[in-house]
Amino acid sequence: MTERERWPLPDKVAGYGRRDEFDRARKEAGQWVFWHDRVQLVLAGRYDEVKPLHVELSPTYLCNFACRWCSCRSAREEWSDADVFSHPRATPLTVIRDTKLDRVLTNLAEHKVGIMWVGGEPTMNPLLYPAAVKADRLGLSQCLFTNGSLLNAERAAALFDANLVFIRVSLNAVTGDVHAKYHDYDPRRNFGSRVLQNLAELARMRSERRSGTLVGVSVVVDEGNIGDLEPTARYLAQLCESQGSGGIDYAIFRPAFPFYTAQIDIRNDTLDKFLSVVGPGAPLRQALVDSGIDVVVPDQSANPAPPAERDDRGCIAAGLFGEVTPNGDMVACSDRYGNPDYFIGNVAEASIDDLWAGERRQSVLQLARETACYQTYCPSNGRGFFFNRLFREIERLRADGRMDEVRIWIDDLRAVLPTPTHSFFI
Ligand SMILES: C[S@@+](CC[C@H](N)C(=O)[O-])C[C@H]1O[C@@H](n2cnc3c(N)ncnc32)[C@H](O)[C@@H]1O
Ligand code: SF4
Ligand code: SF4
Repeated sequence: MTERERWPLPDKVAGYGRRDEFDRARKEAGQWVFWHDRVQLVLAGRYDEVKPLHVELSPTYLCNFACRWCSCRSAREEWSDADVFSHPRATPLTVIRDTKLDRVLTNLAEHKVGIMWVGGEPTMNPLLYPAAVKADRLGLSQCLFTNGSLLNAERAAALFDANLVFIRVSLNAVTGDVHAKYHDYDPRRNFGSRVLQNLAELARMRSERRSGTLVGVSVVVDEGNIGDLEPTARYLAQLCESQGSGGIDYAIFRPAFPFYTAQIDIRNDTLDKFLSVVGPGAPLRQALVDSGIDVVVPDQSANPAPPAERDDRGCIAAGLFGEVTPNGDMVACSDRYGNPDYFIGNVAEASIDDLWAGERRQSVLQLARETACYQTYCPSNGRGFFFNRLFREIERLRADGRMDEVRIWIDDLRAVLPTPTHSFFI
């Protein structure tokens, strides 16, 4: 087979480049093309009908941490990690219970919608573990984001046995007092050392290949923990080396993002300090790679996304990914962080087909258009923003009568990109 001369670029519609440009591009950005039914709707310009590849599902909005930089922070009161259902703030809006969770899973399964377990802190709700087993039996792909403080060997084993695609621990810091301060909990609770212990246990199980579940680590950085970035990276490399490699599959490092309501402390030189430890060419980054960890530093960390185009098209990417609250409410996209104005109905009470055909969804999309949600609110590091821009490029080519080029680009992407088994890295 002759080497192709033009390589399709995943983030530029009908765009092509040399092999080295393709190699540098983020492959996952183009993997949506493998969902043929969604692609057909996009090619037909029927964006409103696109159904989610996966949803972010919160078994609880409560959290035992109260990170200032998190838009989801909620518990600032004295908190015992024993029983989420008895928490003073446990209501149907903040903690999901059995029957409702069961109905949500059944309705998601009808369209094979994958699940990102998030929160709040998802492991605070013990129903997570049987629900993950059930979701696996229903054939749903799933993954978990956790602060790692409430796991133990038995819970970790249950998660591996439920065949999650990955378990991602938000580590952020390894020094006890930095960990406590950055996550804003009483240092006497000693969560920092519990996280380290649980991460080591996950890495051990992973290197024993208990299942195909990947173990990932997330480090979000602002001035509150920048001084701990180096010790954290060093700790991860040592942990992997002590497991004989293979214990931690990947580590993602990002500066804290200024989400609405998040209080982040990013100064003029924070980004430079960040890149000097984990940016391209940094020696410690190489040490992590040498220890077997795939290091991810998203592009937006160094190059912020260009601003949204001004037009009155509204949101044409809502739907591809969604969010389900602990009450079972489906949010129109995965970037509105539980905003009730964006609820399109309850997925414990109605099927996805009914929610998509309902008037409520149309009025939410109308709201997104009237308030120029894409241009004014949509987080520029999120999926919704990325696909709004990509689909607008498709619409520009449609207006120019160049849809054949779009179709060929999609076929070419399918020929050169790895076929995904889930949508979580898109
Ligand atoms: C909201 S948390 C929920 C799950 C769990 N409590 C945790 O901390 O992993 C999901 C992810 O969002 C990330 N996150 C929260 N606020 C952020 C911010 N301002 N910038 C970047 N990432 C953030 C967290 O670090 C975590 O990886
Ligand atoms: S980032 Fe996670 S651990 Fe921190 S407050 Fe938010 S939900 Fe809780
Ligand atoms: S513009 Fe962004 S935040 Fe607004 S509805 Fe669409 S995807 Fe969600």
